[in-house]
Amino acid sequence: MTPATWTAVDEYFSGLMLPPDPVLDATQRSAADAGLPPISVSAPQGKFLHLLTRIAGARRVLEIGTLAGYSTIWLGRALPKDGAGRLVTLEFDPAHAEIARANIARAGLDKIVEIRVGAAIDTLPPLETEAPFDLIFIDADKPSTPDYFRWAIKLSHPGSVIVVDNVVRGGDVIDASGKNQDAEGMRRFFDLLSAEPRVTGTAIQTVGAKGYDGFAIAVVT
Ligand code: SAH
Ligand code: DHB
Ligand code: MG
Repeated sequence: MTPATWTAVDEYFSGLMLPPDPVLDATQRSAADAGLPPISVSAPQGKFLHLLTRIAGARRVLEIGTLAGYSTIWLGRALPKDGAGRLVTLEFDPAHAEIARANIARAGLDKIVEIRVGAAIDTLPPLETEAPFDLIFIDADKPSTPDYFRWAIKLSHPGSVIVVDNVVRGGDVIDASGKNQDAEGMRRFFDLLSAEPRVTGTAIQTVGAKGYDGFAIAVVT
């Protein structure tokens, strides 16, 4: 079994359960055309986030790390159509935010999605007045994941779901040397998650078109 197999299996699943989607395809094309790094979640992972959001019955979603809005659109499409849905997504890079804004508008989600531009560590505190969020997706700069997790708890309620992307990164998460800043961020995050009495969680390793990685998922108790 090789990474080529993982990608082929992703293509098999996508062929069955992820019909061509002009809006999502245009989103990925816009990101590539603008030279953004190809680091969005994959299509099956995006739908997984979408399903989690529906399963949670989430009305208020917070995303940290927008990029071109690909995961944002998957999450936004899971929100109720009755006007009660709201998604706030935080992005550091104004160029990314501008591209995401166009993609979110193309998806018809501009009424419920709001992009806040800036370093998330600065744009999170003002969200206290808009909390709680029902689902929080953490997918920005990896060394800051412990800080974002602390904020996610602060901005949640019992029953809120917290999802963290890229927690495995090819197995780097078990590198305890401290040399890899991203891995170190995830290890400090798992230290917090495992010691935090207000949260219970787990992590699932994944393979696919995005390689070998994983999600952590936690619920606020
Ligand atoms: N969630 C997206 C991918 C996000 S990639 C998807 O799956 O489609 C990570 C994003 O986080 C990048 O756009 C990057 O610019 C942004 N980012 C990096 N550092 C950040 C920070 N300190 N605050 C907010 N966003 C940040
Ligand atoms: C990478 C992948 C991601 O999903 C992400 O959020 C950030 C970086 C990467 O492959 O480098
Ligand atoms: Mg990611």
